[in-house]
Amino acid sequence: MAVVIAVANQKGGVGKSTSAVNLAAALGKRGKKVLCIDSDAQGNLTSGFGIKKKSLEYSVYDALLGRKPLSETIVKTDFENVSVVPATSDLAGADIELIELENRQSRMKMQILTVKAEYDYIFIDCPPSLSLLTVNALCASDSVIIPMQCEFHALEGLSQLVESIKLVRLRFNPNLDIEGILFTMYDGRLQLTAQVVNEVKKHFPTKTFETVIPRNVRLSEAPSYGMPCIYYDKNSKGAQSYETLADEITAKHRKYIK
Ligand SMILES: Nc1ncnc2c1ncn2[C@@H]1O[C@H](COP(=O)(O)OP(=O)(O)OP(=O)(O)O)[C@@H](O)[C@H]1O
Ligand SMILES: [Mg+2]
Repeated sequence: MAVVIAVANQKGGVGKSTSAVNLAAALGKRGKKVLCIDSDAQGNLTSGFGIKKKSLEYSVYDALLGRKPLSETIVKTDFENVSVVPATSDLAGADIELIELENRQSRMKMQILTVKAEYDYIFIDCPPSLSLLTVNALCASDSVIIPMQCEFHALEGLSQLVESIKLVRLRFNPNLDIEGILFTMYDGRLQLTAQVVNEVKKHFPTKTFETVIPRNVRLSEAPSYGMPCIYYDKNSKGAQSYETLADEITAKHRKYIK
């Protein structure tokens, strides 16, 4: 059974999609079967794997609204062991359309259950909001990766997100865990970086990944070639940091996944 991991932070541009794409690709390369679900109307995860949105027949939107089973929305990527449930701009209306439906917060979960046995890891790339789409992802997940940039307001954002995680635990998904807080676009030369890292570690001593993701131009170039950075330039610092993160995560899940 797959471990289901949401990649969430309501703050925009902190590295959610970059982390989902590269972590999935790194795990796929290690022989793990990975499904990546794009749950953001921007579709950055979809295009990050080189999937052309115009060519798509179905997307995550159809699965969430119950028009197609999730299994029929899955597309194979050109990258080892990684499949994707793509998102298109249709998804922008989903938050409002979902409100009217039964089990509106557990639609993603119900869909994932139908394919969970076929994968080792399922990642859900969340939009930059605490919307119903993010709540669906949190309800469907075993744990959450929280990418975060070491900025002044980052801690406020983090406590808001943690409050939402607690609410989801209380109401829908008592076993939801924090997989880890991941520092992205890390620049150890900045004083602010050290301050934010120390604050976060003080509040979440056991929930901070050892691996940090440096600011690296290769990570930002790769999506325009429709490739995870670990394929685009595997020797770059950015790619290597996601390889190390994949090792850190598999070490933790070794108990469950061979
Ligand atoms: N470690 C990094 N170094 C340099 N650039 C990065 C890094 N991580 C991400 N980027 C770039 O920063 C931008 C935002 O990253 P990304 O799209 O992964 O964030 P996001 O949290 O998914 O954004 P959104 O909230 O809009 O979905 C992108 O242009 C991406 O290429
Ligand atoms: Mg994104």
